[in-house]
Amino acid sequence: MMTPLLAGNWKMNCVRGEAIALAQAIADGSTDVVGREVLIAPSFTCLAAVSEVLADSNVLLAAQDLYWEDSGAFTGQISAAMIRDTGAGHVIIGHSERRALFGETEYTVAKKVQAAYAAGLTPILCVGETREQREAEKTMDVVERQLRGGLCEAAAECFDTLIVAYEPVWAIGTGLTATPEQAEHVHGHIRTVLATLADHGVEENIRILYGGSVKPDNIDSLMACPNVDGALVGGASLKAEDFLRIVHYQE
Ligand code: PGA
Repeated sequence: MMTPLLAGNWKMNCVRGEAIALAQAIADGSTDVVGREVLIAPSFTCLAAVSEVLADSNVLLAAQDLYWEDSGAFTGQISAAMIRDTGAGHVIIGHSERRALFGETEYTVAKKVQAAYAAGLTPILCVGETREQREAEKTMDVVERQLRGGLCEAAAECFDTLIVAYEPVWAIGTGLTATPEQAEHVHGHIRTVLATLADHGVEENIRILYGGSVKPDNIDSLMACPNVDGALVGGASLKAEDFLRIVHYQE
């Protein structure tokens, strides 16, 4: 049995004091969590402060992006070692906002996945189709291309810890959520593609999170799907009460 993961992607929200308060509330509300993992991804500037808050908690910490070079003349970039140094153990890679707004490509995603893995960070690789692509019945092709592209440089061992997040772009921040049937369908396809990339059987242990308008009132039905192994939550992760309800799904 895989341990479900409930992850909060804070995006570009919270200055330090707000981040500390939100992280503390989530840590306090997660002390009773068993059989599932909780993770939050604040902005880079809050990672170190939030790491201190989480030190004695069972909440995991992630960055929202990284750059693949170790060091050097790359103004504005953050390396995997810098992220490790804050205490974070995970990193989100290839979020659709980065793909759509900041020129992220299959090439850059692949470099980042391998750099994260090489530095001991667990990559959370995001994939997902736009509304136009879904309407054109391209969903499975798009997701497969993003997986194959993003994982083309990944070492075999990377698949032992890899986490994938399926986030249909049309569902992110829109209040539209994929139905459990839609999510399950794509997640099943993702696992089939992973089976062709990973060593035999490893794909069965790769967690596939669903993301896109996950809320307290839809988490239970999404988590009932056999291939939905957790959630990546944006907006609803910024309110401790909502996120903690998501963390305590089906309880
Ligand atoms: P949302 O964002 O929950 O606000 O739709 C999800 C995400 O982008 O990870």
